[in-house]
Amino acid sequence: MAPPQRIRQWLTGQDGLDKLRLEETDCPAPGQDEVLVEVHAVSLNYRDTEVAMGLYNHHKSVEHPPTIVSCSDMCGVVVAVGPYSNNTTDPYKNPAFQLNAGDRVQASDVANGFGGPAPRVLTQYRVFPTYNVVKIPDYLTAEEASCLPIAALTAWMSLNSMRPAGEIIGPKETVLCQGTGGVSVAALQIASAAGASAIVTSSSDSKLQRAEKLGAQTLINYNSAPDWEATVLKATADAGADVFLEVGGAKTLRKSFDCVKFGGLIACIGYLSGKIDEDTDRTNTNLLCLKRNVTLKGILNGPRNRLEEMLRFYQEKEIRPVVDRVFKFEEGRAALQYLYSGGHFSKVVIKVKGWMP
Ligand SMILES: NC(=O)c1ccc[n+]([C@@H]2O[C@H](COP(=O)([O-])OP(=O)(O)OC[C@H]3O[C@@H](n4cnc5c(N)ncnc54)[C@H](OP(=O)(O)O)[C@@H]3O)[C@@H](O)[C@H]2O)c1
Repeated sequence: MAPPQRIRQWLTGQDGLDKLRLEETDCPAPGQDEVLVEVHAVSLNYRDTEVAMGLYNHHKSVEHPPTIVSCSDMCGVVVAVGPYSNNTTDPYKNPAFQLNAGDRVQASDVANGFGGPAPRVLTQYRVFPTYNVVKIPDYLTAEEASCLPIAALTAWMSLNSMRPAGEIIGPKETVLCQGTGGVSVAALQIASAAGASAIVTSSSDSKLQRAEKLGAQTLINYNSAPDWEATVLKATADAGADVFLEVGGAKTLRKSFDCVKFGGLIACIGYLSGKIDEDTDRTNTNLLCLKRNVTLKGILNGPRNRLEEMLRFYQEKEIRPVVDRVFKFEEGRAALQYLYSGGHFSKVVIKVKGWMP
């Protein structure tokens, strides 16, 4: 069926979650080496709430237009190919989701990609460069698949990107997942499927129980046990955890340094001139890294080859992303408000259209 001439999309003026608005616009047409994708499901990320509230401003190279289509993670179906596209696959039969970068994440991807001024994905149809469309494993629903390009790939890169090609996390390693949001639950699922041990921290005992069902071996409520770094050391016979999904930032990073294994990895996901930072009178972060020979690595999502590597692993292990709640397209505002409330476990999804074609 031909795409409609007019489509609906959720827009934000970056002036508050309550000001998100659903508007009509013309359906875009694909140009050279582009495809038109009918959006089926959009999963929500914390960043989407930051953008809608005008708080996503730490990338200085990024200039947001005054109004922008909301949300950045989706899957759908290719329904039209640009007139000069060199796409050699059969796009009409390829359920697809978007990729945020090419072979490697570059500064230009930050400035021009989904974190930047590009229109995002909470819309019924969207044009993508052909290269940025990847086939979805067929065991997944649309809602599940929409959780993979950002949240799961960020978890995959946090766990595996510092290893030699072809090596992934495995038994004998312990992963520390902070909280039970989308990135952390994906890391828990990958670690469990790979035979690694997982420690999960959360503000909620009931969410910790859900994490246990997904294979978490050590559960820590960081509200009732604010000195959770001591529990991590106890659970690992004082060795510390091998890999950290550091999403907490200001209140967690120093604790992570206190319970990371010698030679371990803190994947900094969330946020030289002397040994003490003058503004805080605290030991400089670089020195903290040296004390335990730790690599501090920023993780900015990931490239196509690592997404495809991750998808092969997901397919082999049949990992299904955990979807906490599915909202209708018309409930876009309520969905983002629900995510911002922090009540969710893993992912929140907006169903834009029925699956499959
Ligand atoms: N670098 C990248 O490429 C990339 C990609 C995706 C996300 N991110 C960043 O990663 C972070 C998580 O994103 P997300 O989409 O997974 O968020 P999310 O789904 O909204 O998850 C938020 C969860 O984080 C947990 N949390 C909050 N404060 C915490 C603390 N002090 N200690 C431990 N856990 C805490 C809470 O879990 P409980 O409710 O269980 O306490 C909360 O539910 C955000 O800062 C986001 O911007 C970065």
